[in-house]
Amino acid sequence: MRFDVLTIFPQMIASYLNEGVLGRAVERGTVEARLVNIRDFASGAHKNTDDRPYGGGEGMVMKAGPIYRALESVERVGPRSMVILLTPKGERFDQSLARELATRDQLILICGRYEGVDERIRRTCIDMEVSVGDYVLSGGELAALVVMDAVGRLVPGVLGDEKSSQRESFEQGLLDYPQYTRPRVFRGLEVPSVLLSGDHEKIRLWRRTESLRRTLERRPDLLQRARLTPEDQAILSRLKEES
Ligand code: ADE
Repeated sequence: MRFDVLTIFPQMIASYLNEGVLGRAVERGTVEARLVNIRDFASGAHKNTDDRPYGGGEGMVMKAGPIYRALESVERVGPRSMVILLTPKGERFDQSLARELATRDQLILICGRYEGVDERIRRTCIDMEVSVGDYVLSGGELAALVVMDAVGRLVPGVLGDEKSSQRESFEQGLLDYPQYTRPRVFRGLEVPSVLLSGDHEKIRLWRRTESLRRTLERRPDLLQRARLTPEDQAILSRLKEES
């Protein structure tokens, strides 16, 4: 997977990419990340990347020219390359979109700032607009990092343990079960005894039940789409009766 990020703040992206899971993937070459500073493609003495909106009004709009030229400078690694604009107006990002994007060879991510990007960029260069949630950030940089992180960890070889991303709650459409580690008693609170029993089948059943309980309590909407087994259905009926 290769990410090319177009931004006027490449350092914001660079510092995150130096650390953690994504940092290791970049170091190993499993994920390639290139940062393109849009300002390098601005013209004029001031190298402006934004200007006042036609028609008047508040704020500034990102100019089409610098973004267009920055985009032209990016090498396309193949037909499975995609240009994404991060914007609160975009399609809502979730685990299933992350999975879809992880099948691509290259994501070119454009981080907008100010009041938005000149509409002609959107109309001519963009394959998809993506929002990371119903709130407004100061720019697309954090959103691009969210996309890169969630997609990157699905790329084979990025997580040490191949199976671990598949075991995760959202992959199965459920919230995660509670986790405990040492010590056995913390502030008078004990680790549930089943987790100390060594009985793998009991532990599996307890975890599945707690996962379903949390999802039922906090995100019942997820249950509509989750892949539920007959055992899950039985557990859910019991949980609903209990409450
Ligand atoms: N830019 C500003 N807010 C955003 C959001 N919620 N998602 C993606 N890009 C953004």
